Amino acid sequence: MQQNYQNKDRSRESLRSKLSLKSLSTIACVLLAQFSWPTLFAAEMPLQASPLVGSKAAAVAGKSHYLINCQQCHDADGRALASIDYIAANLTAPDSWYYGTEPLHIFRSIKFGAGLEMPPFKDTLNDETIWQIVAHVLNIGPREHRPTQE
Ligand code: HEC
Repeated sequence: MQQNYQNKDRSRESLRSKLSLKSLSTIACVLLAQFSWPTLFAAEMPLQASPLVGSKAAAVAGKSHYLINCQQCHDADGRALASIDYIAANLTAPDSWYYGTEPLHIFRSIKFGAGLEMPPFKDTLNDETIWQIVAHVLNIGPREHRPTQE
């Protein structure tokens, strides 16, 4: 008899600890859900465009980073016509883009990738380099968005 009670107590105790584990993990899930992917990205996204996007010198520096990192898919001229492996965006024609054409959007596409085939560069390029590439992308696009400052 005595033995039985003890067993019952023990199993109740383990049930209680299981329950509290369960509720703890529920709380953890609810807390984690607050940090959805967009929020995590937002933490690394600048709030406004860098002044580098207006700088011709930044565009020149950006071009060499572009040729190293982007031309295998977008081609040296940005038009992606000769690429047979990827249907990459024509970077000289922002009218045809999906993911936004403002400097911040271009920054985001480079830093975090766009669609399934445009890879993120957040682990290989720092923000300043990305802004220089944005300046280059603007510089090969429509005239009115090209950098004008020396
Ligand atoms: C591995 C191939 C690949 C590389 C490397 C690559 N891209 Fe892309 N990029 C793509 C593809 C494919 C798309 C189209 C994605 C889509 O529309 O789903 C794209 C889309 C984009 C877009 C978004 C266009 C839109 O529709 O809004 C921008 C901007 C862009 N690339 C810039 C760059 C720049 C700048 C680099 C270099 C830092 C680069 N890409 C490197 C394949 C690549």
